[in-house]
Amino acid sequence: MDLEIQILKTNTPKAKPSDEGSLGFGKLFTDHMFLVEYDEGRGWHDARIQPYGSLAIDPASPVLHYSQEIFEGLKAYRRNDGGLQMFRPWENANRMNRSAERMCMPQLDADFQVKAMRTLVELEQDWVPHREGTSLYLRPTMIATGAELGVHPAKSYLYYIICSPAGSYYKNGMAPVKIHIEDHYVRAVKGGTGAAKTGGNYSASLKAAFDAEKKGFDQVLWLDGRENKYVEEVGAMNMVFVMDGKLVTAPTGGSILPGITRKSVLQLAGDMGIAVEERPIAVEELFRAHEEGRLTEAFGTGTAAVISPVGLMEYHGKVMELSGGKIGPVAQSIYDTLVGIQRGDRPDPYGWIMKLS
Ligand code: PLP
Ligand code: COI
Repeated sequence: MDLEIQILKTNTPKAKPSDEGSLGFGKLFTDHMFLVEYDEGRGWHDARIQPYGSLAIDPASPVLHYSQEIFEGLKAYRRNDGGLQMFRPWENANRMNRSAERMCMPQLDADFQVKAMRTLVELEQDWVPHREGTSLYLRPTMIATGAELGVHPAKSYLYYIICSPAGSYYKNGMAPVKIHIEDHYVRAVKGGTGAAKTGGNYSASLKAAFDAEKKGFDQVLWLDGRENKYVEEVGAMNMVFVMDGKLVTAPTGGSILPGITRKSVLQLAGDMGIAVEERPIAVEELFRAHEEGRLTEAFGTGTAAVISPVGLMEYHGKVMELSGGKIGPVAQSIYDTLVGIQRGDRPDPYGWIMKLS
């Protein structure tokens, strides 16, 4: 598929952020956005980049009623030589298409998605921040448009990409996060939509996250929806544990998001000589391993969160503290390697990087 992308530039560019140290996550948006539309019988059409602004959609659009929506998240980085690069954009494009399949939405050719990302980032290149720990976050999104209240797949869709200069996802940067292990609410069940990146998974998680925040926790660690026994993932990241010197993580069995950072971290760890296990992990096992001194680190992995060390986990009032409230050595060395590749400070033997202008 090779639709031409029309470009309409803004006449009123916004001021770029002056303090790259306080960007936070997802608060500022760049000057332009990419859009392409789909109609049944016609396919994808009208690919364009236009000034960033509000969307006009019908109030009867299925996305507004039944959450027929999917999204992605990936980053473009500025290298030390000033050039730009993206990390594994095809992985995101392919996952978008898997989410589309699950949510009865049309697929969009992965090469075309990557071309759209690339064209947009090149146009917005001055928005890619310089400071270490910053990047330009891309949010490809697809929504069901049209106007029909019957519960069935929509006939019209809009795919768009917006960009946001980003610093750290958590307000305390790399400071270890405090996690509540949730035993009442569940995020996803086998056969549900947990493996798709669809908005409903996130709105369904708000209540537990909000309650946990009121008790002083940063995030919720979800358990499996059937037995409430095995750890799955955190709201915006996959979880990895360092147990008996091995990297242990839950399998991507259909109810968790198959994270691209997770996949990269497992590969890097294996190549560093660290044994990797993907298997169900019971909460009880974690507490036992911690008591016996065998659980030495826990960290989250995600595009927005990068590598996020866990300092404390709580379950039924029982608390375990990890790594003395600091980032552990395994998380640190994986962080250094991953971020080194993402920012172009280290060689990329894996072909994960797509260089831009
Ligand atoms: N799990 C959830 C629920 C997420 O939202 C994310 C973020 O995208 C992840 C895991 C990590 O995925 P990735 O590493 O592809 O960003
Ligand atoms: C990402 O890491 O890209 C995510 O999508 C997490 C998010 C929901 C903030």
